[in-house]
Amino acid sequence: MFVCMCIAVTEHEIRECIHAGARTVEEVSECSMAGTGCGGCRETIAMLLENKGGLAGALDGLPRSA
Ligand code: FES
Repeated sequence: MFVCMCIAVTEHEIRECIHAGARTVEEVSECSMAGTGCGGCRETIAMLLENKGGLAGALDGLPRSA
């Protein structure tokens, strides 16, 4: 599943960056380019960095539209 729609970066690619040592949104962005477009995915990247149960868990923390 894509986390960053602007750059087409998947959750798996972001997790690879975290596994390789990225510890901040900026470091994940340097590694994957995710978050370098509109910036709308940066909060989700931050949640993945906090390891909140994968993308589904990260999305659970976001507001939902009706
Ligand atoms: S969705 Fe990631 S930068 Fe726009």
